[in-house]
Amino acid sequence: SQPPNNDNQQEIEELISSLPKEKWWRGSGLTLYQNFWVPSDFIRGVITLRRHFIGRDSNILLASKPKTGTTWLKALAFSVLHRAQFRPSVANANHPLCSSNPHDLVPFLEIMLNGQPAGHVPDMSGFTDLQLFATHVPYHFLPESIHQSQSRVIYICRNPLDTALSSWHFWAQANLEGGAGDWSMEEFFENFCKGLDFYGPFWDHLLSYWKASCERPERVLFLKYEDLKEDTARNLKRIAEFMGVPFSKEEELDGVVDQIVEMCSLSNLKELDVNKTGDIFGYENKTFFRKGEVGDWANYLSPSMVERLENIMKEKFSPFGLYF
Ligand code: A3P
Repeated sequence: SQPPNNDNQQEIEELISSLPKEKWWRGSGLTLYQNFWVPSDFIRGVITLRRHFIGRDSNILLASKPKTGTTWLKALAFSVLHRAQFRPSVANANHPLCSSNPHDLVPFLEIMLNGQPAGHVPDMSGFTDLQLFATHVPYHFLPESIHQSQSRVIYICRNPLDTALSSWHFWAQANLEGGAGDWSMEEFFENFCKGLDFYGPFWDHLLSYWKASCERPERVLFLKYEDLKEDTARNLKRIAEFMGVPFSKEEELDGVVDQIVEMCSLSNLKELDVNKTGDIFGYENKTFFRKGEVGDWANYLSPSMVERLENIMKEKFSPFGLYF
């Protein structure tokens, strides 16, 4: 059942206009909402998600901070969940990954909810058939119904040095009109270290899911991009098991795991026409596929930048036993 429509549209608009804002490469900038820098053009979706989305036991939520492997995780999870319907294989031209960008197959909740008129309980009827969603919001922004249901959350994170570098490349390439313009790597990095970043600060974002995964490991799976790169097949099996659809012995013998790994590899996805052309949420599809390397930061960041970020990581993460 829907919660009562007790939001007041004016109250939400007043709340949004009272929040601190910063300019950003992306035209509409960032809004500081409950200590996180939310893209201003998704702030209504983030508030609606928090207040009105009703999580169901069957929901599987893919969560991440941008540029940590979201696109890859979406491709893998979609392929795992729908493998009976769509045979995973690079030779299967009918697989949805051949005709759709992974972001089209696994929508972001806050973007889906963003178009809902603020102050009104959104119509969720179109959501009931969907099981797999994604989000960039921190863990405690998720609605109570998700925390209380049997929904499962898979979080992917990445070494912040590579995340910073990947983000800078993305924004530089996205080159959106009306944004803050040509920020240098140094300027971008400075903001990243201050927490002024898409859904930043990164340390609070990571820790929100890290703590949840320690408290509720059966509900929150915490993955690292680096581990996924090192042994994709082993981690894919963990993902499938966590999603409640483990691979059978027969499937493993039939090579299904390896086929999904190959189909979702950067080299395969990057070369598909659908990902070379077209766009999604105002970004060209191709901007989501770059190098996908671990440690590329060493080619770009100066020793003082590395030292600075490593100090932040040590200070913020080591008390919680989280290391990169
Ligand atoms: P790089 O910029 O380091 O290459 P997100 O999907 O969260 O936006 O993250 C983008 C990063 O993941 C980019 O990293 C991109 O190249 C990489 N990536 C995208 N698809 C991938 C895949 N199938 N396998 C591995 N990495 C992938």
